[in-house]
Amino acid sequence: MLPLFLLFVVSDGFASEVSTVQPLILTVSSLSRETVSSVVPVDREVQIHVHEEFDRIALYDSNPQGQTREPIYVVPAEHIETGFIETNVSLGNPEFPQGWSLNSQADGGERAVPGEHCLPVWVAGFRDKKIVYTDCLKIHPTWMQDNKLFIGNLDVRSLLIPGTHNSGCYKRGDKLSLRDTIGRYILTQDQSVWNQLVYGIRYLDFRIGYYPPKENTSITDDHESRFWINHDLIKVRPFASVLGQIKKFIERSTNEVVIMDLHRFPIGFNMREERHTAFVSYLERELKEYAIPFTPSTLTLDKIWTTPGRLIISYGENSIAQTKDWLWPPIKQLWGNKGTVQDLEEFISKIVANDSLQSTDKGLWAAMAQLTPGPLELLFNPKGSLREMAHKVNPNLMRWCQRSHWWRKLRIVPTDFFMETDIVNLAINANVIKGHQDTRYETD
Ligand SMILES: *[C@@H]1O[C@H](CO)[C@@H](O)[C@H](O)[C@H]1NC(C)=O
Ligand SMILES: *[C@@H]1O[C@H](CO)[C@@H](O)[C@H](O)[C@H]1NC(C)=O
Ligand SMILES: *[C@@H]1O[C@H](CO)[C@@H](O)[C@H](O)[C@H]1NC(C)=O
Repeated sequence: MLPLFLLFVVSDGFASEVSTVQPLILTVSSLSRETVSSVVPVDREVQIHVHEEFDRIALYDSNPQGQTREPIYVVPAEHIETGFIETNVSLGNPEFPQGWSLNSQADGGERAVPGEHCLPVWVAGFRDKKIVYTDCLKIHPTWMQDNKLFIGNLDVRSLLIPGTHNSGCYKRGDKLSLRDTIGRYILTQDQSVWNQLVYGIRYLDFRIGYYPPKENTSITDDHESRFWINHDLIKVRPFASVLGQIKKFIERSTNEVVIMDLHRFPIGFNMREERHTAFVSYLERELKEYAIPFTPSTLTLDKIWTTPGRLIISYGENSIAQTKDWLWPPIKQLWGNKGTVQDLEEFISKIVANDSLQSTDKGLWAAMAQLTPGPLELLFNPKGSLREMAHKVNPNLMRWCQRSHWWRKLRIVPTDFFMETDIVNLAINANVIKGHQDTRYETD
């Protein structure tokens, strides 16, 4: 059962390219807006991307097929043609189904069921008053396992991997206090790391800060509480909480390979080798049993699945990475430092056109799909935020990545507010096609 939706499209002059674009795609807005009627800001509003013609499009809170349910939102007819509809239906914070909520096993709950599962947001497209297409917003907790037969032959360095940027800088809801205005440029995500993994993200990017214990607190200091997730110079949450979520995910899924990029150490590590040593021994205690040993040669998913490890731990300081066989060298993050969507597109098109990056001996690399706020923006745009910036990029990024010469060439793609793209679906389909073609070449 190929999960593919193959269409032959003409895009950018590449005729008859295989593409992976569904007739209707659901995404979730990165914006959060204040309303008069509600105490907390409204966020996570569902978006619909339309790629075929329909007479009518509506959202439902359950599968509309074969039932007579009232829609929760009907797209006004004049909006259908625009191709991109931003609804006022919020995804909210639904409990994950089939044993995939963070605590569902802690309380002796159900076993986690592999496969993709629908959340209670469905879209239906109608022609002549009949439903001709439906889809739902999904979690993809086990997409590697689900597509084992199709993608197992692929080198881990050749996969298209959906990622997040500053993965630990998440927070949701709560009215932003004055102090949080700074949060507008700190928070890159609004889903926990657990949720990101359940939705299908497989690359996590962290900046680690070291904060020595305050005087007189040494008795209760457990050492590990000194390591924090930072956004540059600002500490966001203890590293231990995020590490716990990753361990839990690897245990609950069986064949998902996760990349953890300890990318930079912006606070407390400079010229302090002993703090790196302390951090690495903490990682060793907590994660070594899950770690995939580094190898510069070909490493297919099939090969990984014959070994116990499921986690690639990349360490941003190469001299330290080299001291342990279970640490991977730094992952190159290709940053454009661009302020406009157009410049970002041009930057990433140069990456996909650069054949030297395609060779697997280049190691793992990530094309960063973010705009960079300039200093003026930070100071003088009181309404600006990383949410706003992600909102400008994400719908475009989706379109760009649908081009086959992009999805064939990209590797790790870390986004902000990732649910505003369908990068997970796209990556699954792209990897299945890539794996299938690899096999065909081998047997030819
Ligand atoms: C959503 O928008 C529709 C009209 O487009 C309106 O009738 C409805 O009251 C809105 N719902 C909320 C919760 O704002
Ligand atoms: C630590 O304790 C000493 C003596 O008990 C006290 O003089 C000092 O002010 C304390 N320091 C802090 C930061 O609380
Ligand atoms: C292609 O990527 C390599 C890094 O692998 C870089 O050194 C080179 O400058 C890039 N070439 C172009 C034309 O951008």
